Amino acid sequence: MKRFILLFTAALFLFPVASQSAPKNKKKDSHVVVAVPEVEAKVIAIETEGVQWLLNVDKFGVLRCYHFGKKISDPAQFRDFTCYRTRHGIEKYGDAAMAYPTVGGRYNNEPALHVKYANGDHNTELYYTGHTVSEKDGVVTTEISLKDYVSLLEVSLVFEAWQKENVIISHSEIKNAGKKSVELLEYASSFMPVRAEKYLLTHFWGHWGYEMNVEHELLGHDRKVIETRIGVSATKLNNPSFMLSLDTEEFSERNGEVIAGALAWSGNFKLCFDRNINCLNISAGINPFASAYKLAAGETFVTPDMIWTWSGNGAGQASRNLHAWARKDGVYGGGSVNPTLLNSWEGAYFNFNAATLIGMIDDAADMGLEMFVLDDGWFGNGEYARNDDKAGLGDWELNTAKLPEGIDYIASHAHDKGLKFGIWIEPEMVNPKSNLANNHPDWVVRSAGREIYTGRNQWLLDLSNPAVQDFVYGVFDRTMQLSDKIDYIKWDCNRVVNSFGSDWQADQDRFFVEYVQGYYKVLRRIREKYPKTIIQCCSSGGSRVDYGQLAFHNEVWASDNTDAVSRSNIQYGTSLIYPASIMGSHVSIVPNHQTKSTTPLKFRFDMACTGRLGMELQPKDLNAEERAFADQCIKAYKQYRDLVFNGDLYRLVAPEEGRYSLMYVSPDKRRAVVFIFKLDYESREIHRTLKLDGLAPGLRYKVNELNAKKSSWWGNDDSWTGDFLMNGGFNPHFYHRYDSSVFYLEAE
Ligand code: GLA
Repeated sequence: MKRFILLFTAALFLFPVASQSAPKNKKKDSHVVVAVPEVEAKVIAIETEGVQWLLNVDKFGVLRCYHFGKKISDPAQFRDFTCYRTRHGIEKYGDAAMAYPTVGGRYNNEPALHVKYANGDHNTELYYTGHTVSEKDGVVTTEISLKDYVSLLEVSLVFEAWQKENVIISHSEIKNAGKKSVELLEYASSFMPVRAEKYLLTHFWGHWGYEMNVEHELLGHDRKVIETRIGVSATKLNNPSFMLSLDTEEFSERNGEVIAGALAWSGNFKLCFDRNINCLNISAGINPFASAYKLAAGETFVTPDMIWTWSGNGAGQASRNLHAWARKDGVYGGGSVNPTLLNSWEGAYFNFNAATLIGMIDDAADMGLEMFVLDDGWFGNGEYARNDDKAGLGDWELNTAKLPEGIDYIASHAHDKGLKFGIWIEPEMVNPKSNLANNHPDWVVRSAGREIYTGRNQWLLDLSNPAVQDFVYGVFDRTMQLSDKIDYIKWDCNRVVNSFGSDWQADQDRFFVEYVQGYYKVLRRIREKYPKTIIQCCSSGGSRVDYGQLAFHNEVWASDNTDAVSRSNIQYGTSLIYPASIMGSHVSIVPNHQTKSTTPLKFRFDMACTGRLGMELQPKDLNAEERAFADQCIKAYKQYRDLVFNGDLYRLVAPEEGRYSLMYVSPDKRRAVVFIFKLDYESREIHRTLKLDGLAPGLRYKVNELNAKKSSWWGNDDSWTGDFLMNGGFNPHFYHRYDSSVFYLEAE
């Protein structure tokens, strides 16, 4: 009995009787719906000279996007634009072409924003509260403010419309205006609903020495995601950019509607193409992989820029729009011409002394090059001397055994010879065999208790840590103090993130994002002190090719693969999104060190001349005839390189056709340079006509073939009208695989 009472008491405690008599004392339901004020319906037109992005606010304050493309004369006509679902009023916060959709309401597709609140709620519904428009130097900036009336979260969508370039840059700013911290689970920079019948996606994939392969893919329904999770060297496997050809199954340089986009972010990114019943939603931003971002009350998160353009004339015009913007804004020092150079890497690797370098400088000067770059191997001492890739990274003191004369001695010699001087660093890295690794193990990216994996015998420094940011800045700064004649820095970065972890971060979810933010902080500081230094971004070649780092760098090393045939693919792919001015493109020795294949010196030179020309070999390995030919090509390049740097690119034939051809035309259309490369053998009986592009039909151009003993075209050294050259009169002839031609055109 006693036992029974005890059990009964315990049961009362666990299941209070009061809860069973609820009907009598029923509490009033506290669910109160927060009212959202109605607003005046309107169209917000974000426009350039030729492109329009129309955003539509309905009376509920929902922001939608119904148009991105050709300019329409009266955009206000879109004010009452509706579709089946919105017409029936069931779509207050739904999935019809949302401009920046969130997890919440009726929206169940890929969101731009997903927030988790302190009370566990996952819903956000953003409503328009106002917008501003301002203009400066040909750029119209529109800022649209949105708000969630329950959580008080605020989002501002910022659009910069580059009038002449027809480029629109957009990002979002997410502010936690509530009282408790929130977690951002998805936080895209930009979102774009597109409506067409067919979507042909062009994107880029690859690996070391094999970057920027172009892949065309017709999108079906559901999601296609292009992303990276490797943290740094983030473009090794794919690139945060794409082209989308509408209503076609064929990629065309000259015809049709094309949307192009590129995210300015050098870390984990995510581009999602979500095809649902009525449209294709594109969301672009930082990859939230392992990066749920906690936003304290009052804090704002600013997402990176997404660069958009639209062309009604195929991929060619889309590229030219991006290139024009890049020259003005997207690339540091864009618009200026960077010097031709000799780089020591493939010619000397780690095996050099002052005499080797002096010899290379003398030869570079003789050939008419304009800069000498001392690559890896000049630092580290004693047991950590950098004589191979196994030791020394982190110890950025001059290797006094190898170069007792000092860097200033080498740099001064270059300057005396009329050359600029550049030097290599890889400041984000550390070899386990280094003083830095011994002194600062806490600076290494690592996870407690786990093996720290090496890549190329090196570890990664934790650039999310401000102390490491100071160190990395210091490496650059101290290197610049080695001589007052350092004009150029090649900043390398040769590995990805493994077993990520930061000793410094309290919240590991911040690591990936704050690594990239730390990288930009350092670069910003460097640019304040060294605005004129030319900086090349290298990452095992082209593993960091994006518009995030390009805001601080003048150029990239497009690939460690210097084989001219491979380069036709890599540089063609890169040119879809990035301008030729950024592509470091070097002539190397044969057989090629990466592919072991052999191509003629002329073919190698002609290919290298389609970007920023350089050489990467020991000049002493060239015979007298080859040296004389090099002189000739370098001289010719100087005559037309302003076109490569600042002209308009027209791609004529893609390498997948077995030939590769491209041309650059001056803005006034009076000068042009045309390159043609034969990649595959085909019968010499085939006479293909090449239709040039971008010329003025009525102008007469004097045509002059460069770098050739015998011209490949019967019409060489004569004058021809633009319309003749563009419509069937130009048919240079090739006999062999790896034949190539360069034609210089100048209007009379
Ligand atoms: C990387 C770069 C090369 C060269 C070496 C030096 O591989 O991509 O160009 O600088 O490092 O170690």
